[in-house]
Amino acid sequence: MYINFWYPICTSEELSTEAPKLVELLGVRLATFRDSTGAAQVISDTCIHRGGSLSQGKIEGDSVTCAYHGWSFDGSGKCTKIPQIKDGKIPGRAKVDAYPVHEAYGVVFAFLGDAPESERPPVPIVEEWDQEGWRCTGPIVFEIDAYYERSVENGMDPLHNEFVHPNQGAPALDQNDIELKDQEWGAWFDAKFGAYTQAENRKKIADSDDSAKDLHAGSWHIGPNHLMTGIHLMNKISFIQYFFEAPISKDRTRIFFLNSRNTTLEESADEYINKTLMGIAIEDKNVIEHLRPRNTPDTLTKELLLPGDESVVRYRQYLKTWEEKGWRIDMHALGKNNEDSALAIPSPGRRESKSWVLDTVPLVPAKS
Ligand code: FES
Ligand SMILES: [Fe+2]
Repeated sequence: MYINFWYPICTSEELSTEAPKLVELLGVRLATFRDSTGAAQVISDTCIHRGGSLSQGKIEGDSVTCAYHGWSFDGSGKCTKIPQIKDGKIPGRAKVDAYPVHEAYGVVFAFLGDAPESERPPVPIVEEWDQEGWRCTGPIVFEIDAYYERSVENGMDPLHNEFVHPNQGAPALDQNDIELKDQEWGAWFDAKFGAYTQAENRKKIADSDDSAKDLHAGSWHIGPNHLMTGIHLMNKISFIQYFFEAPISKDRTRIFFLNSRNTTLEESADEYINKTLMGIAIEDKNVIEHLRPRNTPDTLTKELLLPGDESVVRYRQYLKTWEEKGWRIDMHALGKNNEDSALAIPSPGRRESKSWVLDTVPLVPAKS
């Protein structure tokens, strides 16, 4: 797990001005709420007085008030009220970490980290969202008992489709016909099929239509936890799927799934199409939950990798570059520390002021 990326926190629907909501992510707890303007806010859940859970408190105007002794914190993390201090002078240390928020496509995202804006990855984008000729559905939210990197690797794996998704007519791929490209925040692969399919019915289609030779599908990732898949069929029919993944812990992942399509645009088709796509996601889940090791391996020598696995390897190389920047959470140390101390993901505010009550999550040191 890495700091300094955008993570899906909850759906827009789940958030109200009525009550805060607890979200567990990257091994820590966050409180999220809407302030009086309706803006979504995400702050550390641990009250720095004596450890109350802010999400169990109540929303008062633009702040969340801790249920334990009534201290209030606004969306910037600033303490706005300490009932026990009668002159109203609030100590400088009375603040909690607060995170930049971006709400779009029915999802509340937060940037969990302290990197300055110029060094952050772009906010998540669903390109087809408002485009004519496209229908976008979701988010559908589901959880898997697996580490999120294994899930993203599965999306970046072109070779599994033929075996895990046989009912979808997933074609056999020639591993030499997979193109791999680099982008600023992740890798992208594209694989041609159609001319290479072994499925008899698809071969017939391919033989009778030149456009079938352009059939292609691929996936790309942005950061460690956003995985997109594009499937391009005949007659320029496309499906683009977005999986925004939220690592709850090293054993559990919450996935926010959106789908864009430029065919059968009627709303009445949503249920059938989404049911089919979720069926495919469950086929993946059934495999991913049983992988060993559960975490993405640290070395490439303990698996027998083929050229067709190159896109998975490239994903791991990107992870390594973010680890070398000092963005990787030390999961072993986090597991131990979490028992004795409440920890926070460092927020941009930590670069502006010193003197914070909570320690931050342990990070693997940057490589200088
Ligand atoms: S623990 Fe939150 S006000 Fe005391
Ligand atoms: Fe799959």
